[in-house]
Amino acid sequence: MNIREEFINYFEKNGHRQIPSSPIVPENDPTVLFNTAGMQPLVPYLLGEEHPYGKRLCDYQKCVRLTDLDEIGDKTHHTFFEMLGNWSLGDYFKKESIGYSFEFLTKVLNIPVEKLAITVFKGDDKIPRDDVSADRWKELGIAEDRIAYLGKEDNFWIAGDSGPCGSDTEIFYFRSDDEIPQKFDPEDDRWVEIWNNVFMEFYKDENGNITELKQKNVDTGMGLERIVAVLEGVDDNYKSSIWSDVINKLEDITGLSYEGNEKAMRIIVDHIRTSVFIAADPAGIKPSNTDQGYILRRLIRRYIRQARKLGIDINSDFDLEIALLIIRKYEKYYSELKDNKDVVLDVLSNEKKKFSRTLEKGLREFEKLVKTDTSMIDKTIAFRLYDTYGFPIELTLEEAEDRGMKVDVDGFYEKFKEHQDKSRTASKGKFKGGLSGNSELETKYHTATHLLNAALKKVIGSSVHQLGSNITPERLRFDFPCDHKMTDEEKQMTEDLVNEWIKEDLTVEKLEMSKDEAIKSGAECTFIDRYPDVVTVYKIGDVSMELCGGPHVSHTGELGHFKIKKEESSSAGVRRIKAILE
Ligand code: ALA
Repeated sequence: MNIREEFINYFEKNGHRQIPSSPIVPENDPTVLFNTAGMQPLVPYLLGEEHPYGKRLCDYQKCVRLTDLDEIGDKTHHTFFEMLGNWSLGDYFKKESIGYSFEFLTKVLNIPVEKLAITVFKGDDKIPRDDVSADRWKELGIAEDRIAYLGKEDNFWIAGDSGPCGSDTEIFYFRSDDEIPQKFDPEDDRWVEIWNNVFMEFYKDENGNITELKQKNVDTGMGLERIVAVLEGVDDNYKSSIWSDVINKLEDITGLSYEGNEKAMRIIVDHIRTSVFIAADPAGIKPSNTDQGYILRRLIRRYIRQARKLGIDINSDFDLEIALLIIRKYEKYYSELKDNKDVVLDVLSNEKKKFSRTLEKGLREFEKLVKTDTSMIDKTIAFRLYDTYGFPIELTLEEAEDRGMKVDVDGFYEKFKEHQDKSRTASKGKFKGGLSGNSELETKYHTATHLLNAALKKVIGSSVHQLGSNITPERLRFDFPCDHKMTDEEKQMTEDLVNEWIKEDLTVEKLEMSKDEAIKSGAECTFIDRYPDVVTVYKIGDVSMELCGGPHVSHTGELGHFKIKKEESSSAGVRRIKAILE
């Protein structure tokens, strides 16, 4: 059964018109990097503008969600997915919407009623419990025990912080051969959410005020990946028909089987598919160091590293073969894949060439350091490769294995720890030495501020620089130019980047140079006029160079975990972040 086509047919039969999927990069909306839900391109119409296709719409929408980037590699997460959706723009509301969902699931997809369970909004001090939805579900044959009433965290939906929103009712499916428990427990993960019906009747503004919309809308979303896997009875999405041919292809290319190599294989196919869709988008995204281009670069580099791990020759066309298969699979639904096929292949192969040069440079250093007449890479060399050339120990291990050499891994970790202890003592020592007014915590926040600045440059753009900063032992505050409220995705990416750099335990170097040299070196030189002729520049690994009086920690590993607590407007065109180390 082709669920995508069944879905569209069903809703067309019920008076809906199919709208084409919008591009993955939103048009005229600088507040998000990618569409993350089917409703996003429809916001003006949910707010009351007339849609040229009428009041009842349906579609499948390409979405990219990056908040789950670190989860990719498990059974269920993807960076790209498709969302099936139907909408009522001020036309039908709860009863009809629930009726359609129920009929589609039980009559078209033939899901037995006993396998379904429902959550509805239990109400709060402002909005009453959603009895209309609960009664409707009961009327259709859902047992009382299979309905759970939950709060705002679960049954109220909004994309990001502001916009159209409302309570929702979510449909769950029992994915297990176990006997189905009489009472539905939403915490029991044998129940998986398959469909969300949002009743958008409110608008939340930037200050959190909620008002009623001009019209009552319905916005529904069902993830195609999940419903296909569920109905095919697999608990690993990558084993469903959406992926099986792609995984088979990768098995052929590597000569390896999926079993035992799941994680790397999932990352490779997921990231290639997302890269194909981003590169094919009419927005013409190319790998770069900012915005969507940065994401594209990151995805490509990540799958190349995973491919290397599986022993694939990264200079071969392995990725292009998989990209072509993906293009062929999806071009029927997304014509831009066909139209921009050559662009996509060029983007992937050019970025791969660039990255493999960087990788090769690192490997040359490796060769120089590793003497071939010994069968063991000692701890000093392993540590130096890590500390000076940024080779993670895993890569050293892989390279050593290829040459039939061993690595003193225990020794490496010993040195690693020694080094950490030393730098901790060093920063404590510095503190004792009387860096007036700067506690150890404040010192950490100084370094975290540099990392935040560098991360924002990548996520928001190179125009980011420090307009103001304030540090206490409890938090940092950072003001920077930016013309929009940061999206959840942007905040998450910023946090992830900073935490990645912390994890890499980068060395913080203090350099002295003339002002001219500082400017030439590309260091961040805000307020350079206020500084003396010879300035101090702090360099953190390869990620940040900033003119600064310090003090700073000596290694980023000392910072702990970085978290953004608040992102708000500071003045026109200036945003303010408050963040903590925990
Ligand atoms: N917009 C709703 C969601 O993404 C349907 O879950």
